[in-house]
Amino acid sequence: MKLPHNIIYVGVTDREVDLFEGQYPVPDGISYNSYVITDEKTAVLDTVDAHFTGEWLENVEAALGGRQPDYLVIHHMEPDHSAGIVAFMDKYPSAAAVATAQAFRMMAQFFGTDYSGRRVVVRDGDALALGEHTLTFVTAPMVHWPEVAVSYESREKILFSADAFGSFATADSTRAWDDEARRYYIGIVGKYGKPVRALLAKAAALDIAAVCPLHGPVLTDGLERYFGLYSTWASYEPETPGVVIAYASVYGNTKKAALLLADRLSEAGCANVVLHDLCRCDMSAAVADAFRYSKLVLASPTYNGDVFPCVRDYIERLTEREFRGRTVAFIENGSWAPRAGKGYA
Ligand code: FEO
Repeated sequence: MKLPHNIIYVGVTDREVDLFEGQYPVPDGISYNSYVITDEKTAVLDTVDAHFTGEWLENVEAALGGRQPDYLVIHHMEPDHSAGIVAFMDKYPSAAAVATAQAFRMMAQFFGTDYSGRRVVVRDGDALALGEHTLTFVTAPMVHWPEVAVSYESREKILFSADAFGSFATADSTRAWDDEARRYYIGIVGKYGKPVRALLAKAAALDIAAVCPLHGPVLTDGLERYFGLYSTWASYEPETPGVVIAYASVYGNTKKAALLLADRLSEAGCANVVLHDLCRCDMSAAVADAFRYSKLVLASPTYNGDVFPCVRDYIERLTEREFRGRTVAFIENGSWAPRAGKGYA
């Protein structure tokens, strides 16, 4: 991981979680990232999931090399990043917690304490001087919770981006970033395009050499491309011309229609045709593909006067994430009362 010597990665890797946030498969595991900045003052940036508090505290202790931490910076209060706060504050009683006012209100809800007397409340634009390094906070409400702030370290030009630019990957992942970052973004932050665009506008004013998210690898080279993808995703624009055919099939006949359509589209020169069997696939991958490609075909048998249940689930997952700006077609079938497309077309 390319980080300056005085910014040390102290995160952990989770290869045991079966479903991240209770619904997203993470076959390659996922990291909960945390960083230590050592300077005249020392700051620890974020904690990790509750299952890894002990390992994380050991990492922090090793990175501090015998020093006491001055600050625990909390960018985001979701439990995958905040579960170690109490253990840290108990272990290091001279450290102060640094977070937004809303984050401290959440701390009181979660832990029964808001650390009054040991806290620094930051607002948009506030700076935390550590010596040669300074963290400037940029509030980012709803990316992905309301209390979120990101911070920019001006000496090394690093954006500590909270959930933004995260991915369903480990910090040392060598796989291409796009697919798991897209699935992560669309699944977790996809509903909040407007706040993400607001954050991107603020970030555009910064000279950024690296992005350190709370999940997945640190981003360094080719940052323009990552920011471009985020801008596309946050604007709900298709990223790639192509057709997603998402189907459900009871006896295999709707599937035959879906496969036939895929063949015909390919024969007609459509370079990107993607099929998803909604009864069996990873739904989060099917959702991410619907946002990625420019056209969507839904193929469903009629079931209880409506679409098949997993197709309804898929449609709900799309609409709750503000799916828009795409051409959508329906294929319905049914022997005595075909109604799968009714109310959707
Ligand atoms: Fe990775 Fe919104 O927490």
